[in-house]
Amino acid sequence: MERLQKVIANSGYCSRRKAEELIKQGLVKVNGETVLELGLKVDGNAAIMINNKPLKQEKKEYYLLNKPREVISSVTDDKGRTTVVDLIETTTRIYPIGRLDYDTTGAIILTNDGELANLLMHPKSNIDKVYIAKINGLIGKVEINKLQRGVIIDNKKTSKCKAKIKKYDKKTDTSIVELTIHEGKNHQVKKMFESIGYKVLKLKREKYSYLDVNNLKSGEYRTLNPKEVKKLYNEAKK
Ligand code: URA
Repeated sequence: MERLQKVIANSGYCSRRKAEELIKQGLVKVNGETVLELGLKVDGNAAIMINNKPLKQEKKEYYLLNKPREVISSVTDDKGRTTVVDLIETTTRIYPIGRLDYDTTGAIILTNDGELANLLMHPKSNIDKVYIAKINGLIGKVEINKLQRGVIIDNKKTSKCKAKIKKYDKKTDTSIVELTIHEGKNHQVKKMFESIGYKVLKLKREKYSYLDVNNLKSGEYRTLNPKEVKKLYNEAKK
């Protein structure tokens, strides 16, 4: 059972806010009755009508994009910058699941499946996100252990995570570190390194859950097949 406005938004008909407006205006009927309250929960079999037309469930689409730098992870941008949605050829109203910074590259999923998006972005979902960070300086084991145990960012300790030194470059005085985290706080990886005195110079998300972008060039994308989508649902519900 889900809230009516969420079911309408998940169908792809409109945003949740617009759905709330439609309900308040008395334009939504459930099983033949006009609904005016916003809290009503409906199940998957409910017959929903908007403006006396049955609500159709939009076909779900799922894309895995290798996001390039200088692309913004949103649907639109008021500064006119290219968005991740601009890179996908579809007429469906899709949106990214979570965010990567403007200068971060790598794996990002786009979909019109609100249920999957909510599950994956839920704070309790334990989705692994694997990042490769190039940082200034030669990081030591002590700092790596600090990251793994959790560091304070925005006054809160981050959860335990995995951190591995992949490479040192003594000439440029930089290190490459692989970081696997579950959480998705704003600028989390950059802030984690900052908290122990390192600056992230380059950041790539290598993997989102079990999905990597090894076979996708920067800016390329592919659709996910039903098996892959099912696996994502299972991962999100773990
Ligand atoms: N952490 C960051 O700092 N930036 C990202 O884009 C993703 C995770």
